[in-house]
Parts: sequence; structure tokens; C-alpha cells
Amino acid sequence: SPDAINHLSESGLAPRPDAAREGWVRVIIEKPFGHGRESARELNRLLRSRFAEAQVYRIDHYLGKETVQNLLVLRFANSIFEPIWNRDHVDHVQITAAETVGVEHRAAYYEESGVLRDMFQNHLLQLLALTAMEPPNTFGANVVREEKVKVLEAMRRYAPEDARDASVIGQYGPGTIGGVSVPGYREEPGVAPDSRVPTYAAVRFLIDNWRWEGVPFFVRSGKRLARRVTEIAVQFRRPPHLLFRLGHGERLEPNVLAIRIQPDEGIALRFAVKRPGIDVQMAPVRMRFSYQEAFGADSHSAYETLLLDCMLGDATLFSRGDQVEAAWDVIDPLIEAWNAVDPAIFPNYRAGDWGPAAANALLARNGASWRTP
Ligand code: BG6
Repeated sequence: SPDAINHLSESGLAPRPDAAREGWVRVIIEKPFGHGRESARELNRLLRSRFAEAQVYRIDHYLGKETVQNLLVLRFANSIFEPIWNRDHVDHVQITAAETVGVEHRAAYYEESGVLRDMFQNHLLQLLALTAMEPPNTFGANVVREEKVKVLEAMRRYAPEDARDASVIGQYGPGTIGGVSVPGYREEPGVAPDSRVPTYAAVRFLIDNWRWEGVPFFVRSGKRLARRVTEIAVQFRRPPHLLFRLGHGERLEPNVLAIRIQPDEGIALRFAVKRPGIDVQMAPVRMRFSYQEAFGADSHSAYETLLLDCMLGDATLFSRGDQVEAAWDVIDPLIEAWNAVDPAIFPNYRAGDWGPAAANALLARNGASWRTP
């Protein structure tokens, strides 16, 4: 909060950059970083008046996850993916961050936040930016972050009507998860009985640049969904011409590269093979790499990685001020568009399901369907 920043600075614990004692002071700021683009801008202005940008570490724990960092290695330490990582070959991208937990004991915070502020403005846009960014020249903090900002700046800003057309929001009602009955969001302690706060959202994002023009990035996240899973799935185009006859009702499954962020961290590639037999029949198979099998368990938590980086002065995995503002620029119109209309009939999905039915229609319009990871 602004108060905390002022006190840190005024107490002398975190001297101003121009002070003689500048030394080694670094300030880590946890989200929420502002409540929207205006308050984020205000906070950045205050921070800049008190500290140098190089002293400020805006933390996003998703960036400390091994598999998130691995995304950059996968893309830029291999030569076979980059040539097909574009609108010529990619049909669409799906990013899912599904949780089974409900609001837990954080209603006071969540009632002010909702899923778009809680997950999209930060974690999910980070995943999207890493997936979509251009190759940076080096793995330096400013270069990497510059490329991520460029992605956010190229993302389509929706007018209210288009924002509602490109997204679906939802709130969980009572249901069953893992055989246990759980209450709906409005029955959770501290939640208003008529709360309009969304606990689920699915959004079709577009990136207006040469690489991604016309390729939808479908991003969804929700609480109390069927499984806890976070993944990025790049779905490639179907072959332009098919030599093999498909059986009745058979569909050719397109190639999918799925990067599993958690749990069961790994990467899987789906492709078609011939089923053994006299006829030429196709079947989709998966080639799979598992972190656990290859390297054993990872003993570092995301926060450990990030706190160490901060101590070492490496800001690559932290958000720069302009990046946070650009992310709000993308998310604010969605929040405003939904605030401007009567809420959907909440609750509109049962705890333990995969979210509201309308989320399926969002993809169906592009001839796609959600994966069940
Ligand atoms: C936090 C959100 O930033 O991320 C929580 O505030 C959410 O609502 C959590 O549950 C998810 O983190 P993870 O690491 O469990 O995917």
C-alpha cells in the first residue's frame, strides 16, 4: 500500500536512491499491485519517487515455477519449435489455471478482487507473454522484460461490447469435489450473499502483431473446478490435405504441444500414428517428458527461487512497472465491461465442474473445444 511504501522510505529502512546510504536496499512488492490501471500508475509514481526502479521487485510467484522458466528454454534452446511458433502453424493456444480450492479464508480480499484481478492480470498474462514473446537477444532482465511488455502492448483492447463477446465469467455454486460436498461461493464465510464477484473467467485474447495476428489465445481460470491443473497447450493447424480416409464419425486430432506447469510438471506432444492392422487407421498418441522421471522432485519453491534472485539482484523473473500497467490496460476493459451490465445469473457453475457452459460456446465459435487436462 502507499502507506507501507512511505513508511519504509521515511523511517530510513529503505533509503531513497539518491541517499548516501543507498547501498543494497531492495523492496519486494507482492500483489495486488493496484486495483486497476489508475491505482497501479499511482503506485508506480510513488515508488519511483521513493526508490530507483532497480531497487523494486514486483513479485509474481508464477515466474518462480520451474516449468514456467522452462518455457523459455523450450522455446529458445531448441531449434525445432521456433519455426512453427506462429500464425502459419498454430491454430490457437489454450492456457488453463484450474483450482479445486474455493475462496478459502480470503473472502475479504477476494470480494474486492475476483478472478480477473487475482489470476489474469498477473499470473496468466505472464504465461501468455512468455508463450507469445519474440526471442530476446540475451537472458538479461531488461531485454526479457522488454519483449514481454511488447506482447502486452500488442494485445487487443476490447470495447465493452467486444469484451463481453470475447469472455465468459462465472461463480461457483455448491457441489462436490473429490466426493466431498462443498458450499457455493455466496455461502463461504465473509462473502456477500448476493456477491457479483466472478470466481471463473474464460477470455479470448488476440495479439495484433505479425507473429500472432488472428490466432486466439484462450485463457481460463477458476476456483472449485474439477481438477487442479495449470497448463499451456499450443494447438497446431490440421494438415492442409489428408491422404487417409477417416472412419465414420472419426476426426483427425491436431498436433498439440502441452506444457504442464503443475502438477505432474512436464511436456507432452500429441501426434497421429497408424494403428497396427491391415487398414490404414489413425490413432493419436502422446510423447511425454516428465520432470519427476527425468530429474526427481524439485526441492525449491517458487518463492525460494525468487527471493534468492532478488538478493542476487536479478530482476529477470520480476515484473517491471510498465509491464504491470500494460497488463491492467488489457484486463481493465474486461472488468469494466462486466461491471456495466446486470450480472450473469450467478452461481452459474457447480463446484466440481469445469466452469459455465458458455465457456464451451466461446471456443466452439472458433471450431475449437477446451482440453480436459
Ligand atoms: C494466488 C492467488 O496468487 O495464486 C490465489 O491469489 C491462487 O487465489 C494462487 O489460489 C494459485 O497459485 P498456485 O501456485 O497454487 O497455482
